[in-house]
Amino acid sequence: MDTFIQHGDVSTLEHSVSVAFVSLWLSEKLNWHVDRSSLVRGALLHDFFLYDWHVGNGQKGLHGFTHPRTALENAEARFQLTERERNIILRHMWPLTPIPPKYREAYLVSVADKYCSLVETLRKHTVYQYKKSE
Ligand SMILES: [Fe+2]
Ligand SMILES: [Fe+2]
Repeated sequence: MDTFIQHGDVSTLEHSVSVAFVSLWLSEKLNWHVDRSSLVRGALLHDFFLYDWHVGNGQKGLHGFTHPRTALENAEARFQLTERERNIILRHMWPLTPIPPKYREAYLVSVADKYCSLVETLRKHTVYQYKKSE
């Protein structure tokens, strides 16, 4: 995920860590009771599509509509997911994709994703800076 650019100069990994951070922060600000583990895991995997979306992956359909399903398939191939985590990944593009999220964790990630994407596109850096280990 760190080898693919998401927005500006921000990699998909950096974007996903920011989305996890903002989702958690939002849940605390709103004082919502959430499954924090599913919230963070779902946020980290919401864009686990593993290709450069600026180039495409040869699939039919627009990236904005198809990548949640691709990310879910990749995540399910590698990890045991909870129902909440599946819903977070599959529904994070709502309302661009018409079916709304089922859980509050998925709404949080959907909102955090839009906020982080906007900041990354306009300011060309991440919302949350973290130290990468070698
Ligand atoms: Fe996405
Ligand atoms: Fe995203």
